[in-house]
Amino acid sequence: MQDDRLITSSLREEDVKNEYSLRPHFLSEYIGQETVKEHMQIYIEAAKTRGESLDHALLYGPPGLGKTTLAGIIANEMGVSLRVTSGPAITHAGDLAALLTNLAPGDVLFIDEIHRLNPNVEEVLYPAMEDFALDIIIGKGPGARSIRLDLPKFTLVGATTRLGMLSSPLRDRFGIKEQLELYSPESLKEIIVRSAEILNIEIDEEGALEIASRSRGTPRIANRLLRRVRDYSQVRGDGVVDLTTAQEALNMLKIDELGLDAVDRKMLVAMIEIFKGGPVGLDTIAAYTGEDAGTVEDVYEPYLLKLGFLARTSRGRIVLPAAYQHLDYPVPEQPVQTQQMRLEV
Ligand code: ADE
Repeated sequence: MQDDRLITSSLREEDVKNEYSLRPHFLSEYIGQETVKEHMQIYIEAAKTRGESLDHALLYGPPGLGKTTLAGIIANEMGVSLRVTSGPAITHAGDLAALLTNLAPGDVLFIDEIHRLNPNVEEVLYPAMEDFALDIIIGKGPGARSIRLDLPKFTLVGATTRLGMLSSPLRDRFGIKEQLELYSPESLKEIIVRSAEILNIEIDEEGALEIASRSRGTPRIANRLLRRVRDYSQVRGDGVVDLTTAQEALNMLKIDELGLDAVDRKMLVAMIEIFKGGPVGLDTIAAYTGEDAGTVEDVYEPYLLKLGFLARTSRGRIVLPAAYQHLDYPVPEQPVQTQQMRLEV
């Protein structure tokens, strides 16, 4: 279901080759995430000066913000190779052992969705990260013995949308932990202008800002919407993306001024009309949107929380006044009794 939504921040098939051509290769080209950039620039320069590999780094935050891109940048800045894999792709300990033994000193191994690693595989990763060693069991039963294989000093870059789902032994083995945040419309505008240049799309500042404002703080969505608006302006306009074509195209796609789509609105309206503003449990919200609870939590909620439309409480989600105003509902006089609930952040 979620893959049909144009505003999903999950990777859709069309994004794979598109994102590749738009990806920045060095920190100097990477727009936004100023804190993360500043930290990484220092860690990378320090490691290079010492002639060492970079410490293991964990990148976390909502999907579509550039975790894979950043892993590529780290490898480029360090002047080493990047190997890309993901938690669910490594099914056996032997798969990880094969990946690790093929690395060259300093190489970056990127594991996306690292919270989905199989526990048996995770066990192999601990000594690999800590001691750069692989413990291999040879034989079975009483005659089995363990031998230790040395590995090159590599850098593991792990990415997750769910910091809370990472086991604490794994989390503790990362020296660097950086949180990626939703981008401001101004940063997204810069990203759109840069992408338009690469893709040979004519766009003006107002058109770029309009797309940026409707992209939910997410470059992956911004780049996807840029392509759809380009199509529209080619057919219904003069091929130049300006404020009018951006507004018309995005209105046609039913993406509103703040980037909400029909499913967001349906969810908020259900919470207001049926549940009187909440609290509503995550599973109930998921059922109303046709998504699974994890997807609602990781993919759709972060932006609604950031807008101040929803809040998480110990008893479920509540709708906040800004959402009533946006959807043209009167703000209830008696706000939801948050006093009895613990607000969660
Ligand atoms: N494309 C996607 N994310 C980007 C970013 N943060 N900076 C520049 N271009 C991007």
